[in-house]
Amino acid sequence: MNEIKVSAEHGYTVELSESWMRSLTESVKDRTRVAIILSESLSSRVQGLDLGSAEVFTFAIPDGEAGKSSGTLLKIWDWLGAAGFTRSDLIVGIGGGAVTDFAGFAAASWLRGLDWIAIPTTVAGAVDAAVGGKTAINSDYGKNLIGAFHSPIKVIIDLQWFTTLTDRDFSAGLAEVVKCGFIADGKILDLLRGKKVSEIRNDQARVKELVERSVRVKGEVVSQDFKESFAREALNYGHTLGHAVELDSGYSLRHGECVAIGMAFMAYLQLDLGLISADLAADHLQILQDLDLPVSYKRESWPKLLAHMAVDKKSRGSSLRFVTISEIGKTDRLESPDLEALYAAYEKVSS
Ligand code: GLY
Repeated sequence: MNEIKVSAEHGYTVELSESWMRSLTESVKDRTRVAIILSESLSSRVQGLDLGSAEVFTFAIPDGEAGKSSGTLLKIWDWLGAAGFTRSDLIVGIGGGAVTDFAGFAAASWLRGLDWIAIPTTVAGAVDAAVGGKTAINSDYGKNLIGAFHSPIKVIIDLQWFTTLTDRDFSAGLAEVVKCGFIADGKILDLLRGKKVSEIRNDQARVKELVERSVRVKGEVVSQDFKESFAREALNYGHTLGHAVELDSGYSLRHGECVAIGMAFMAYLQLDLGLISADLAADHLQILQDLDLPVSYKRESWPKLLAHMAVDKKSRGSSLRFVTISEIGKTDRLESPDLEALYAAYEKVSS
């Protein structure tokens, strides 16, 4: 078992576990009640969970972003109330990023903060959503607009879950891994270059190293800047356009797919502005395409994407702000770039 320490709000470990069930049982020893919030599609795999002396309550929520609603949260609050959950009880989220975001926010809001454990079952959840304590539900006005910083007391990653993923979902999760490579750890990119998704999936040692390295990147960044005053923004490389595409697509594209389009856009934008070399821009596109990730989007959506980017959580007032890199592992920010430069880069993404 490998452990990565994170120190953000409080210290906690991200365990790469051979058995999530064993790790969870060990982690809940002293608890009276444990609420398991899990994605509906995993219900049959998590039945009859025996957590020793702890009384276990299970609630399945709809898969994906649909589950992260205020309506579902109202039901969870009633359910926790009826079961008599107190401050010393525990919430566990088992599922993709949407489920762990939701479970974390339920934990943050019930009695002003219960302990919670994240058990991510997707690549994107493991390397991004479950680590770092950003918890949220969606509003009609956008994704993750209602939320709280509330770190889990533990994250348990069991790679066995990934066998349940489609190639498309596995690949979408790798977009966040690619991002960690560009912003902080070039070895990640070495492990990905020239590899197809199937080759990566069939190489457990490679998957483990990619996940571990990406979690280390995220853990270090959030330990440095938990509440995102500056350093944590780097995790949003490719996300400014990515979030806009996600909203424009009505969430029909996976988050990672939108981030891939966002990183392709950043490759062109940074190349055009002389911020990165042609080789580094080409490296972005090659790695993303080898992983079957999209690098283009509809040209006619540009006006809407621009409007969405203006209200991105990373924007300041009305000025647009992008995370940039000058080389692999070195990040910076680009404030209020020229709109013509943005459109010129977008034309290349959309052509
Ligand atoms: N997903 C970006 C962050 O946790 O800050």
